[in-house]
Amino acid sequence: MSNAKRATRIGIVTAGGDCPGINAAIRGVGKTAILEYGMEVVGISSGFLGLINQEHTILDENQLSGILTVGGTILGTSRENPFKKSTSLLSVDKPKLIRKHYKEMGLDALVCIGGNGTMRTAAHLSEEGLNVIGIPKTIDNDVWGTDQTFGFDSALWIATEAIDRLHTTANSHKRIMVIEVMGHHAGWLALYSGIAGGGDVILLPEVEFDIDIVAKCLKRRAIHKKPYSIVVVAEGIPFKKGDSAGRYIADAIKTKTGMETRETILGYIQRGGSPSPMDRVLATRFGASAVELIAQQKFGQMVNLEGNKISSIPLSDVGGKLRLVPMDLPLIHKTRKMGVCFGDEGN
Ligand code: F6P
Repeated sequence: MSNAKRATRIGIVTAGGDCPGINAAIRGVGKTAILEYGMEVVGISSGFLGLINQEHTILDENQLSGILTVGGTILGTSRENPFKKSTSLLSVDKPKLIRKHYKEMGLDALVCIGGNGTMRTAAHLSEEGLNVIGIPKTIDNDVWGTDQTFGFDSALWIATEAIDRLHTTANSHKRIMVIEVMGHHAGWLALYSGIAGGGDVILLPEVEFDIDIVAKCLKRRAIHKKPYSIVVVAEGIPFKKGDSAGRYIADAIKTKTGMETRETILGYIQRGGSPSPMDRVLATRFGASAVELIAQQKFGQMVNLEGNKISSIPLSDVGGKLRLVPMDLPLIHKTRKMGVCFGDEGN
């Protein structure tokens, strides 16, 4: 056996809901690792399932070429959470399997690209002794500890374009148009697309709305001869579940105002397709920085954006927290004064 030290070997796993920019991050990690540090890169398939089932492949420079602009993830993803307690008697100890396979695959470090759930898993794996680095991604922009995740800007473009298109048809028919955008817990996408698209009412998961206040805002607009209104609704607004948020709000508006109302549910279109230039750049910066942390042996960290600076914070600080829209956000305060209705007492 030769005495030559083998190259540092790193694994990349992409987990949770996909978003535009993941491939740009994989490329950022892979190219920096191979070209700058002479590392070997292993791509793990289908999120943490790939670590449990040992499904992986070596990523060389060729596989990393041509993926910068491609949406989704070339590695595949899943919502597998290896730390979720199972009640089945036949259940296997998944964290133990992951530790075993990490060793068998000869990994020196693992880069976990994902949202809140993935960062929580990454934090657990780090506590269990694996050398882990997290890279935050999600269209929801709700990962605690970073000013922005990649995926958000691309989804914002799509949602804003959809709202822009609703304006013309709403105006032609003099209707109320309700559009539901993604965001179970955090309303960043609804807030930003609502403001960028000139929404008249914006409903966020963080705000307990009152449908009578929404109706009052819409009637007031009609009295002021506004021929139509746009209502932007986050999917996670607080209401009795069982229906979609958009349909629920559209029906409630019809009942309360008698105005002709239609709903649009944007759905997975927001998560698909090519990343925006800003997301490509952010994902590239995150990917390169993740490898720099590995080279410095600074593990148990999540790369983050603070202002316009890339830095990192301990994964243990991130796991299990959410970055929600604060109601004292200056953007909310300022747009309220411009007539935007958030469905609460502030209006
Ligand atoms: O990735 C975040 C997110 O897009 C949420 O906004 C959305 O509710 C959720 O994922 C749905 O994902 P899936 O149906 O893939 O579990």
